[in-house]
Amino acid sequence: MRDAAPTTIYLKDYTPFGYVVDSVHLTFDLEPHSTRVTSRIAFAPNTETTDRSFFLHGEQLKLISAKIDGIAISPTVTEQGLSCDVPNAPFTWETVVEIDPANNTALEGLYMSNGMYCTQCEAEGFRKITFYPDRPDVMAVFTVRINGPHPVLLSNGNPVDAGPHWAEWHDPWPKPAYLFALVAGELLAHSSTFTTVSGKHVDLNLYVRPGDEGKCAFGMEALKKSMIWDEQVYGREYDLDVFNIVAVDDFNMGAMENKGLNVFNSSCVLASPETSTDDNFERIEAIIAHEYFHNWTGNRITCRDWFQLCLKEGLTVFRDSQFTSDLRSAPVKRIRDVIDLRGRQFAEDNGPLSHPVRPESFQEINNFYTATVYEKGAEVIGMLKRLVGDAAYCEAVDLYFARHDGQACTIEDWLKVFEDTTGRDLTQFKRWYSQAGTPRVNVTEDWTDGTYTLTFTQSTPATPGQPHKDPRVIPIAVGLLGSNGDEVRKTEMLELTEASQSFSFDGLSSRPTPSILREFSAPVILERDSTNAERAFLLAHDTDPFNRWEAGNALAKDARLNMIIKGAAPDADYLDALQKLVRDDDLDPGFRALVLQPPSASDLAQTLFENEHAPDPQAIYDASETMAQTLAQTLADSLPRLYAATTVEGPYQPDAVGASNRMLNFRMLALLSRLDGGDQAAQQFASADNMTLQYAALVCLLSIDKGAEQNQAFFYQWKDDRLVMDKWFAAQVAFATPEKTAAIAATLTQHPLFDMKNPNRFRAVMGALAMNHAGFHHISGDAYSLLADWLIKLDPLNPQTTARMCSAFQTWKRYDADRQALIKIQLDRIAATPDLSRDTTEMITRIRE
Ligand code: ARG
Ligand code: ZN
Repeated sequence: MRDAAPTTIYLKDYTPFGYVVDSVHLTFDLEPHSTRVTSRIAFAPNTETTDRSFFLHGEQLKLISAKIDGIAISPTVTEQGLSCDVPNAPFTWETVVEIDPANNTALEGLYMSNGMYCTQCEAEGFRKITFYPDRPDVMAVFTVRINGPHPVLLSNGNPVDAGPHWAEWHDPWPKPAYLFALVAGELLAHSSTFTTVSGKHVDLNLYVRPGDEGKCAFGMEALKKSMIWDEQVYGREYDLDVFNIVAVDDFNMGAMENKGLNVFNSSCVLASPETSTDDNFERIEAIIAHEYFHNWTGNRITCRDWFQLCLKEGLTVFRDSQFTSDLRSAPVKRIRDVIDLRGRQFAEDNGPLSHPVRPESFQEINNFYTATVYEKGAEVIGMLKRLVGDAAYCEAVDLYFARHDGQACTIEDWLKVFEDTTGRDLTQFKRWYSQAGTPRVNVTEDWTDGTYTLTFTQSTPATPGQPHKDPRVIPIAVGLLGSNGDEVRKTEMLELTEASQSFSFDGLSSRPTPSILREFSAPVILERDSTNAERAFLLAHDTDPFNRWEAGNALAKDARLNMIIKGAAPDADYLDALQKLVRDDDLDPGFRALVLQPPSASDLAQTLFENEHAPDPQAIYDASETMAQTLAQTLADSLPRLYAATTVEGPYQPDAVGASNRMLNFRMLALLSRLDGGDQAAQQFASADNMTLQYAALVCLLSIDKGAEQNQAFFYQWKDDRLVMDKWFAAQVAFATPEKTAAIAATLTQHPLFDMKNPNRFRAVMGALAMNHAGFHHISGDAYSLLADWLIKLDPLNPQTTARMCSAFQTWKRYDADRQALIKIQLDRIAATPDLSRDTTEMITRIRE
């Protein structure tokens, strides 16, 4: 059964549901192809509305029986749900439905993964489990009984009772249906306990498939750190007797914050030194924190409707980034977040998929779990905090929890607590939620009679559906440096509110060098004429670590852009600046690694496009290769020493200091490989006792078109480990040379271990294909058609993952006419596919416009 013709849902049409739900009792009789779900729901008229129409969502359900107050009824059932006449007084609703988890390849609702049952209900999956008002503003207390032969039977809340082949759970906290979860299977628990700040005892369990027990310890520790951090920093205590996490191999997204029963993609929770890299460890720690933090920002206070998604996601991403900054290096975290924001969110915000942080319409809500809602949503919170200050931020957030606990809220509710605690009018600030597009901020400067003046001009290009943009409130952190590098003015938060506005600094004895947009204080594109000398100065002296990196990044990009546009040679000043920086052992190795990390090809492509050059992916690749080679030669004397100095002795620990050293160690190895043909990398590969070093060595070899032998050895060593095999599939495609990329990806789709039904494996190959910029955009067009072939194949099985991966084509209008024509053929072909899902139809339609 396929989706009906797509309809568009609008924020402005919101109305409350005509009934409230006092309690929900669910009974599951688990069978792979015919699970029975019995529901008993206590409804009562909602006194806040007079609308008494009764519609329950329900999709792909076989209705067995329905009763109102014990009397059988025959409701009207469509593909979307059910309606019928109901009493204008409290009543009990009972249905029995049958569902088919074993054939659920969309991984939404109740499905099976390696013989285990699990659920994913956000955003609208609960309607595939039973008939229900599946909307986040309907909150209810759930009691769940599970009948099944499995040793582990889990649902939300606290365990009530259990016997052989059954278990009962009760969740005392009213919740929307999207937070419902059920898990059943032969799982092993890695258990621990936590005592909350007020002395409450909590049992913690991480459930995994047999064989994965050795990969649980790190996740468990991360969970405890998250629990302590939320108590200490936000005053938030956990509120159930148990907290369960389950690792699942087949999962569309990263993880899900179901009340008391988080379900995780196994790649986002399982970790061991032998199988996980430093980056994996850091990401796992952050995602565990993210899902845990949702218990307050998402669960206790949820969203009124899905347009408010950023209310929980922007805030929770912001909170998890604060957590990582506190546990690890704050500057390194900030720099990495900005690289990621520019790579994914700026690309989205400046193309056909651009949408506001709070969208105003959608066809398929799953298509709006985006970098804009999440990462730009988090940036908006960061700006708010900068504008009101740390103390006022805490006060406002405390009020938010006090005022809205147990409610389903809106962005208006969120902003109101800031207005009430600070007295500020946030009307103009709210444009950050309603206007799409990345603001451009141009800055010019003037130095007259001892007064230094900065003049900022802001504008935002038109985005789909929004031709005109109004000026926003933009916090711009500025510091001024004297000629010896001393700070002559400490960081000040300028508030740009007009289209154009000047800020003056008096009493300076000489013209200062400005450090603008420190800490990346707003998600904007800063345009400023600068010289290489000034950038080198800031790279050497800026007291703000982010801007120090930013100066190096600007030099790095400029040097490559000059090679691409003007055919220039690698810039000597840039190479010189890097040489000085790399040798400065007072600097954090992780920070140095980030300065040495080449700007991404897609970042260069975006910048070329902004400057009215159609990016040539092959030219970008060639320039980056030449630069890497030249850099290796320039730094040749320092490489062996720094490689040795950053080699961490002793058994591997995933700690921040070790990871920081290994980041620089990896950069050194990458450059060394360009001089020694990969000898050092081969040696590292052979002797590595942890995945960080082993994988780094493999990547270095593949990047110089070597490593066939190591690639094979890696396969035989790890072929039984699913998560490591994902790395193996991805690395070969991601680091292939442009002309070989599509062919390697095509060959890997024929590998016996390739499984399109597993989203991690599918993404390993197809995601890596889209991320290999020069390979994906190779002028043969082979990669475009390969990706389209597989999206067409996957769509009937898994619309959600297919739709997400369509975004590989979102930047297509950046490129030359030949490439645009090649991509257009594929977009048309996908669009013309019979019975294309609503998810993919919406994405392709938006991208093609
Ligand atoms: N709420 C989850 C998180 O960010 C994401 C779940 C999204 N799932 C989906 N099917 N769109 O933690
Ligand atoms: Zn989230």
